[in-house]
Amino acid sequence: MIILGGSSSESLASSVATRLGLTPGKAEIKRFPDGEKYVRVLSDVKDQQVAVIQSMHHTPDDFLFEYLLLVDALKDLGAKKVTGFIPYFAYARQDERFKPGEALSFRTVTKLIETVGTDEIYTIDMHQHRVLKSSDVFRIPSHNLSAMPLLADYVRKEGKLRKPLVIGPDAEAEQWAKLASEALGTDYDIFTKKRFAADKVEVTPRSASAKGRDILIVDDIISTGGTIIEAAGILHSQGANQIEVACTHPILATDALTRIKKAGVLNIIGTDTVPGPISYVSVAPLIAEHIRKTAL
Ligand code: R5P
Repeated sequence: MIILGGSSSESLASSVATRLGLTPGKAEIKRFPDGEKYVRVLSDVKDQQVAVIQSMHHTPDDFLFEYLLLVDALKDLGAKKVTGFIPYFAYARQDERFKPGEALSFRTVTKLIETVGTDEIYTIDMHQHRVLKSSDVFRIPSHNLSAMPLLADYVRKEGKLRKPLVIGPDAEAEQWAKLASEALGTDYDIFTKKRFAADKVEVTPRSASAKGRDILIVDDIISTGGTIIEAAGILHSQGANQIEVACTHPILATDALTRIKKAGVLNIIGTDTVPGPISYVSVAPLIAEHIRKTAL
């Protein structure tokens, strides 16, 4: 078994390999002077099972293309099975044609991943709003894992919140709010959300009141921060105590982190599916556990 990290997830791949008692696989990845990507697999992969770990954050096209080159090369070099671990799966939000003529990007990306020869795919908290399960879009075996129990465990150990009310800021977030509240032994509620533009949303509370409660807001992605800022504003106006936020994929576009802090959020926690300033929780145990269960 070889664990091979692409350049977006090298350190994650190395910690997965360490957990499994393996040495990470090696590849040389660089750019030609004209901007084209160069990929060379250095490990001997013939007849081996290979797990490629490559998140698609910040420069998704770049990391996607590198993944395609890697997997195509691995299959061509005789790898027996290639399993893709794409912790942050970009383009999943464009799963529908919202305006006439739009590309169905989610479908295009899944087709490319299959075409190069990926045998099986794992994602983590992949955005599934209208698409309800990963098998609706992939024809290869697919699995969507959740980092929410790991995030909830971190919040519990940190111990900053007293019996927090867990809030999912939109209907899709109910699955994560439920998981986190179960892990913390507390209750949850969700808001409803209307999106007017990529950076403009409006959220409305459903039933539970936040008055006097510590709050944990959970979501899959923080991109512009608009969703969290709106939710925090409503919770403060309801008289919430302190508010913490936990998300799987801290994309944090532009000045999202500063704006969320200004909105009175005490602490923001994310995972290393998107490595960055708030990636306090690693998804390495989650990935390693699944590799151990299925491939070793
Ligand atoms: C969308 O429904 C997702 O679950 C997140 O709520 C959304 O991507 C967050 O984006 P932003 O931080 O830009 O509001």
